Amino acid sequence: MKILIKGAKIVNFDGIIEGNLFIRNSRIAKIGEVSEEPDKIIDAKGKFVLPGLIDMHTHLRTPGREDEEDLWSGSKAAAKGGFTTIFCMPNTRPALDNQGQVNWLLEEAGKIGIIEILPVGAITKGREGKELSEFGMLKKAGCLCLSDDGNPLEDSSLLRRALEYAKMYDLLIISHCEDKNLSASGSLREHLISSKYGMEGIPWASESIAVFRDIELARYLDTKIHIAHVSTKRSLQIIKKAKEEGVKVSCETAPHYFTLTIEDLEKSHFHPNFKVNPPLGNREDLEAIREGLKEGVIDCIATDHAPHSQGEKELPFEEAPPGVVGLELAFSLSYTYLVKAQILDLKDLVKLMSYNPANILGLKDKGYIKEGAWADLIIVDLSRSWQVLPHKLFSKSKNTPFIGHTLEGIVEFTICKGKVVYTEKGKNG
Ligand code: DOR
Ligand code: ZN
Repeated sequence: MKILIKGAKIVNFDGIIEGNLFIRNSRIAKIGEVSEEPDKIIDAKGKFVLPGLIDMHTHLRTPGREDEEDLWSGSKAAAKGGFTTIFCMPNTRPALDNQGQVNWLLEEAGKIGIIEILPVGAITKGREGKELSEFGMLKKAGCLCLSDDGNPLEDSSLLRRALEYAKMYDLLIISHCEDKNLSASGSLREHLISSKYGMEGIPWASESIAVFRDIELARYLDTKIHIAHVSTKRSLQIIKKAKEEGVKVSCETAPHYFTLTIEDLEKSHFHPNFKVNPPLGNREDLEAIREGLKEGVIDCIATDHAPHSQGEKELPFEEAPPGVVGLELAFSLSYTYLVKAQILDLKDLVKLMSYNPANILGLKDKGYIKEGAWADLIIVDLSRSWQVLPHKLFSKSKNTPFIGHTLEGIVEFTICKGKVVYTEKGKNG
């Protein structure tokens, strides 16, 4: 299949050019004028072509909770949101902690073939934090990174060994930073608001204590470490300093941490769709996250797409599980709240959602639009807006606090390895 994308503004993290882009089979064959006849022409005048987005942190609930999401619905949601590569977390039932599970997942994902789904293996067997998984086997099966996401690794000596083995096998450890003794059964940030309503809170130190320990071990062992879903100002201060001192730490945040605060949770009357882990912080945290994105202290925006059934999200706030769906909203939320708000420019967003994740995970020929790279691309119209309506979401779960909100920027086409895998209704190129 040969596709000609005509007259778009082509955006990379280091520049924007206007011109034609020619796709042959699964790769970008040419940027500029071509004489070859295409099979399909997409007129993209006035639109922007970006590298396909890469999500380092998705929950696809497969195997075990296919009622909440499966590989098909997750792929469709990802493609609609502009993601061409997603990494799925291993907090499934059973956990993705062995070669057999990972082989199975990759085989099933391959059958769907909408976007690329890559597995995050579990650091410990059953994610129980007691015994390390077989890192060599997980690597052989196709894992590039490991995480016990949802659970921190409480045993520092186990984390030490995990980091050492990960270095040997060239795997990235993605750390869920939380001191469970401090967060205990809290369901929101410890704050005037939690006191006012007599609810058990989670102190911000629960995150940064764990961030500090994990970074200190990475420093001591001279290994890489990636911190998942950073949400507090204090965590960012620690990460920034460590980076300046040469520690190989990278980190991500998620859109809810630069768009919402605990005040929004109160205004929602403690709707479970505002419950996430780590919990929403205060205004200072939100400002610090925005600053961290601007300064480059935060390397990536990941979704932490966490589908939950309607029944579970209808439980009282304290009993409901944490998490929000994010695949279909992440780009527009980031564009609306960061680019439109003039905190970042579009190139920065491409860096945070494509270029950096590809680099951190060593994905070859992804995250940058150039001749010879995979034709993983999205075409976006930044002059249009859309309303978040639950029945329009492709994800099986609808747990987002942004229902009814109007967001700027629409993904019109998603192309993965040269194949158009999503077209916004009404667009036929
Ligand atoms: O909000 C969250 N939801 N945070 C996590 O760490 C886990 C996730 C989930 O799996 O639902
Ligand atoms: Zn997660």
